[in-house]
Amino acid sequence: MNKKVLVIGQGAREHAIVWKLASSNHVGQIFAAPGNPGIGSLAQCVDIKADDVAGLKDFALSNQIDLTVVGPEAPLMKGLADEFVAAGLKVFGPSARAAVIEGSKVFTKDLCRKYGVPTAAYGAFTDVDAAVEFAQQLYDAGKRAVIKADGLAAGKGVIVSRDLEEACEAIESIMLDKEFGSAGDQVVVEECLDGEELSFFAVTDGQDFITLLPAQDHKRVFDNDEGPNTGGMGAYVNPPVATPELQERIIKEIIKPVLAAMQAEGRTYQGVLYGGLMLPEQGPQVLEFNARFGDPEAQVLIPMIKSDLYEMLEEAASGRISELRPELEEGSCVCVVLASGGYPGTFERGKPISGLDDILPGCMVFQAGTACQDGQLVTDGGRVLSVVSRGADLQSALDLVYRQIERISFEGMHYRRDIAHRALKHQGGRP
Ligand code: AMP
Ligand code: GLY
Repeated sequence: MNKKVLVIGQGAREHAIVWKLASSNHVGQIFAAPGNPGIGSLAQCVDIKADDVAGLKDFALSNQIDLTVVGPEAPLMKGLADEFVAAGLKVFGPSARAAVIEGSKVFTKDLCRKYGVPTAAYGAFTDVDAAVEFAQQLYDAGKRAVIKADGLAAGKGVIVSRDLEEACEAIESIMLDKEFGSAGDQVVVEECLDGEELSFFAVTDGQDFITLLPAQDHKRVFDNDEGPNTGGMGAYVNPPVATPELQERIIKEIIKPVLAAMQAEGRTYQGVLYGGLMLPEQGPQVLEFNARFGDPEAQVLIPMIKSDLYEMLEEAASGRISELRPELEEGSCVCVVLASGGYPGTFERGKPISGLDDILPGCMVFQAGTACQDGQLVTDGGRVLSVVSRGADLQSALDLVYRQIERISFEGMHYRRDIAHRALKHQGGRP
């Protein structure tokens, strides 16, 4: 009951992590950098930016932090885990050499190709004409092309083109106009796959791993998957497509070979390996990997972990995950994101938030873009709150989450009313 933990990040994902860690018998004190007002009710927020690696290291050393948990990808890419390990600090999250699995799409596609991990047919290009030629070949063969900037592009670097003209425009804006800066020095042009998407999570110490519940995200801003892409408008666990057989297949064909491949490449991977997968008829295919928990997936995955989260993350960070037999909760869990008016485009901040004093049993509200102004909680970002509920089954979790949302308001608030629509279609339930 005396461990000190530092959680890095400031979103609803980190609020969920802090909330779960706060219930651990091992944890005595939690710090969050920089955190947010919701996190501040459970942890001590310290004013250090999530990507200020040197500042975070100094803080962790001077406060004798026992375990640091990294929420977002940026500090990992900047080598936070490497710096911490070199300083004798324990950290949950991959080294920069391993986090490249999220940081470079070309790296990941080439890794999949080299080790026979299923992924869409592709080419990687530094030359515009060659990229256009490959896109043309895809369209000539009756397929569509997806254009991806190699590096991180704040979730905007992937364009699913509808015709060759759109593919060429995307290639040119990434490679010539440098829409995403040096992230567009290379592009991946790949075959567009049809099917449902699935987020799949393994917690690994580099050698062994455990899996958490599969989840489905909702990336488009409006109902029926319309409108522009967002960071994620909602999620739920155990989508019906993720049958036990499919999960076995994902572990055998994707997770195990990728972890072994990373080891073989001298990039042993410790942390959460988050597979963004497509499920076309021919079987699960890798779209991308992320080096962290998903957001909003973490908000549903974490409440479904019955075991002690500190133990899980500490054992992964210490190379002992094989000793762990994590217990998961029964039933279902859903998350609906409440966003600012205008998001994912421009939006105003500073709108007072009401309705958080009285949360229904079975619900949780994790904060993301919030701030405290003169004692009043106000909006301070695009995705403002993640409203989460657990229920005996999906329908009861959904009924509960939307009842909770009716009690919450801020000017311009909008959210999707069709979270888990794919599951309800499978089950023949109400949309
Ligand atoms: P990524 O960042 O690679 O996961 O891509 C972002 C989104 O683009 C995914 O969640 C998919 O919706 C879509 N996407 C990416 N690659 C493909 C593909 N090969 N076929 C169809 N959709 C894709
Ligand atoms: N849920 C999408 C992401 O975390 O990248």
